[in-house]
Amino acid sequence: MMRTRPLKVALLGCGVVGSEVARIMATHADDLAARIGAPLELAGVAVRRPSKVREGIDPALITTDATALVKRGDIDVVIEVIGGIEPARTLITTAFEHGASVVSANKALLAEDGATLFAAAEKHGRDLYYEAAVAGAIPLLRPLRESLAGDKVNRVLGIVNGTTNFILDRMDSSGAGYSEALDEATALGYAEADPTADVEGFDAAAKAAILAGIAFHTRVRLDDVHREGLTEVTSADIASARRMGCTVKLLAICERAADGRSVTARVHPAMIPLSHPLASVREAYNAVFVEAEAAGRLMFYGPGAGGPPTASAVLGDLVAVCRNKIGGSTGPGESAYTRLPVSSMGEVVTRYHISLDVADKPGVLAQVATVFAEHDVSIDTVRQQGRLDSEGLGGEASLVVVTHRAPDAALSGTVEALRKLDTVRGVASIMRVEGE
Ligand code: NDP
Ligand code: HSE
Repeated sequence: MMRTRPLKVALLGCGVVGSEVARIMATHADDLAARIGAPLELAGVAVRRPSKVREGIDPALITTDATALVKRGDIDVVIEVIGGIEPARTLITTAFEHGASVVSANKALLAEDGATLFAAAEKHGRDLYYEAAVAGAIPLLRPLRESLAGDKVNRVLGIVNGTTNFILDRMDSSGAGYSEALDEATALGYAEADPTADVEGFDAAAKAAILAGIAFHTRVRLDDVHREGLTEVTSADIASARRMGCTVKLLAICERAADGRSVTARVHPAMIPLSHPLASVREAYNAVFVEAEAAGRLMFYGPGAGGPPTASAVLGDLVAVCRNKIGGSTGPGESAYTRLPVSSMGEVVTRYHISLDVADKPGVLAQVATVFAEHDVSIDTVRQQGRLDSEGLGGEASLVVVTHRAPDAALSGTVEALRKLDTVRGVASIMRVEGE
């Protein structure tokens, strides 16, 4: 049975994502109404610059007073696609107070202060859905929260930032420069309003916090996530990875400790073998592996950024929230009952690829190997190549050491000690190796 009274939707933000949400709502109005059981009505669109031309949107709906819009009292669902912490947080909690459920794509806010939002949604009996906040169009949060609710997830690993994957892919495949590739990603609508969030790893870290929270039924905040961006990755690192049969990706990795008593979440560039499925994830695509006790390994893959893919996820949430509203129910809220502590990066067990500039003389290799042994880090492979020094006389070498798995703290200690050796002229690059 189709309800005749429409469900009223307020759209906060009409940029890359919001404009696509409005377009799809208009072009697929009949299908959406049939799927929901009631027509949707776009009741208002809050923006910063009211005079900007917005194709397909009735200018009478545009407002700069987002607060008044969410306080109207007749709004059924608020879609928040402004981004950032404030005013988004206050607008969302105000929307709950005034009777609306919320769909948001705001990973920064969810990772910073999700607890406040979940508490407000629960207090007022509303829905908070945010599938678009992680991995763009890929259905990932709902499968984790609902389909895997009966299983035990131990690990989530993947590429969750489209912009950085696009940059690394361009640098690797076409030899493009970093800035050129970033400009292209920004023009395509993949980057955040401040692309520092992408390249410094904040965006991926926010997504890792959200993923870890849902996967392990605990609360993980942005500050709990170890974060390294890709600004330190050089063309030399990428070339070195190639020589090893690897490529460089910015990975988000969330793990439950072997004893089950804590979790870790981290984001950093890493070398992965070209044979690994993540190595073939190109452009702004994302891919995430989920390892669960009974299900085994699951892989989720698809477009991770951009207006239409993200709007697809927002619209999916909108349909779900509207169906709940008509049925007089709400979907699952936050599940954080395990209250597991988040361990520091030092406790993570991983492998390192270390490239050193060393003096090419007897005993150097032994000295370097001793430092590894003293820190209880086992060496897997060593590759040395002599080269000419600045005067063209030789006497220097590049030494590339790849370790076996060891605690990150031991690996950091090893690098610190290597830097102090007279025979080590410099540490050219350090990168973790994953996916083997
Ligand atoms: P944009 O910068 O393109 O759009 C932001 C919109 O918010 C603009 O319409 C802007 O108005 C409006 N806005 C900004 N401040 C205010 C304010 N104080 N009051 C009312 N409106 C305001 O961002 P995106 O669309 O790219 O991103 C939106 C959200 O979606 C962010 O949380 C982002 O992280 C998330 N997201 C984005 C993805 C992407 O690929 N772009 C993918 C997944 C999630 P105006 O148009 O006048 O400037
Ligand atoms: N800036 C983000 C990215 C948008 O590049 O992945 C999608 O969340």
